Amino acid sequence: MISNAKIAAALVGMFALAVPALAQAPELTADEAAGKVIFEETAGGVGCASCHGMKAQGDIGPAIAGQTVENIQLQMETNENMGFIELTEDELKQVEAYLAVLNR
Ligand code: HEC
Repeated sequence: MISNAKIAAALVGMFALAVPALAQAPELTADEAAGKVIFEETAGGVGCASCHGMKAQGDIGPAIAGQTVENIQLQMETNENMGFIELTEDELKQVEAYLAVLNR
């Protein structure tokens, strides 16, 4: 028969494994998760990350974590590097939500 002490030890072990996993991957809301896909992969067929870095830390383009819809829209209209990108209003809000996550 399995002792209570063994069960307790197993539970402590599972908890110790679960805590860092949670710290690494906080759950995203539906909008944040959709924004992540746009940011990393689909915007303009390349993703914002291809120029701004996977964490929006800056690369070819500047760091953009925490940027909002207004400035993203302005850039799509005026910045020739980003003119080929087209996003709907919903998609813009989703990217904004994910840029807020990266700014935490
Ligand atoms: C092909 C490269 C490229 C892609 C893809 C790209 N950008 Fe940019 N972006 C740039 C460059 C270069 C600048 C800087 C332009 C300048 O300062 O004249 C910039 C500037 C910006 C700025 C202004 C930053 C500031 O400090 O004012 C924002 C916001 C921005 N990008 C958001 C985005 C978002 C969101 C996406 C994806 C939907 C995206 N960009 C995709 C190249 C890119």
